[in-house]
Amino acid sequence: MMADRDPDRGVAGGPARHVPVLLPEVLATLAPRDGGIYVDGTFGAGGYTRAILDAAECTVLALDRDPQAREAGAALVAAYAPRLILRAGCFSQLDDHVAAAGLTRVDGVALDIGVSSMQLDEAGRGFSFMEDGPLDMRMDPQGGASAADVVNALPVQELARVIRVLGEEKRAGAIARAIVRARDTAAITRTSALAEVVSAALGGRRGERKHPATRTFQALRIYVNRELDELAGGLNAAERVLCAGGRLVVVAFHSLEDRMVKRFIAAASGKTGGTSRHQPLPEEGEAPTFKELHRGGLAPGQGEVDANPRARSARLRACERTLAPARGIAATVLGVPELAPLPEARAGGWQ
Ligand SMILES: C[S@@+](CC[C@H](N)C(=O)[O-])C[C@H]1O[C@@H](n2cnc3c(N)ncnc32)[C@H](O)[C@@H]1O
Repeated sequence: MMADRDPDRGVAGGPARHVPVLLPEVLATLAPRDGGIYVDGTFGAGGYTRAILDAAECTVLALDRDPQAREAGAALVAAYAPRLILRAGCFSQLDDHVAAAGLTRVDGVALDIGVSSMQLDEAGRGFSFMEDGPLDMRMDPQGGASAADVVNALPVQELARVIRVLGEEKRAGAIARAIVRARDTAAITRTSALAEVVSAALGGRRGERKHPATRTFQALRIYVNRELDELAGGLNAAERVLCAGGRLVVVAFHSLEDRMVKRFIAAASGKTGGTSRHQPLPEEGEAPTFKELHRGGLAPGQGEVDANPRARSARLRACERTLAPARGIAATVLGVPELAPLPEARAGGWQ
């Protein structure tokens, strides 16, 4: 049975707030077929999942680490029963979820890396400097260190490294020192307080289109959610579960993440030249586990960017699984930086 296809309705029957990015391209690449099994590792508002389920009489195992996304997805699960399985979890463990769901082969994996519009826009989640909220940024608020734990606990040099590497922020040292000075007076627990500290440290760079705190917030979000480790884990888990001919489609919004996907595809497809000087040559006899599709990746057209400005930095990369046994590509080869371990979460939080 086909579910309600009204494009103005969200998965829970309310307004759809997250517009799926590069959706026609994702769908054309996955090419869902009747009887196929697909993993959507980043369910979000269910945009990809719904399109896959509408394209063929197939099954989708969807994952999201965010309890709010899963709660909003319950209506979609009911509408497509029994073809949609929605589970709590991280895509770095997608092969475990496939096994736990009793699925034996996977024909396609889609990963839409990053945060959803719902997460960004809801001040209470603490991802944005545009509105005041608790300094949280956890996609799964039920566990682990929050952004407040990080800014109030990390030693200055470690903090500077996180902001420099994950935010690609040149003045990370000045920002980290300003954060440490501020927290010596009072803990930084609100997004507005952090945004003010960062803006003051950078002296309010005039004439720039971006808010001065953009890069710092991005760095903290990626760090708090261990997004680069997750991506490395997810790519390798996809290599383990996909059947021969199965396709992996990844949409990334950040240059660090896109570079990792590019390196993964280059290493797995045996094309080692030119992507990374750290990339070792494949061992003799190691057959490629993937074949690259869409050489160089796909970017959204101007029409999509005009309609959805959040799509502007998106890049889709894809590859097709071969028969060769999975070999795993090390995180260091993919360029995952070494950073300080996340601090302990403060008992009772900061509010
Ligand atoms: C960009 S949104 C996905 C939007 C979705 N493609 C759609 O069309 O509605 C990313 C979602 O993936 C989730 N997510 C991010 N990293 C994750 C991870 N490592 N494991 C599981 N879910 C993750 C986030 O909580 C968020 O809901």
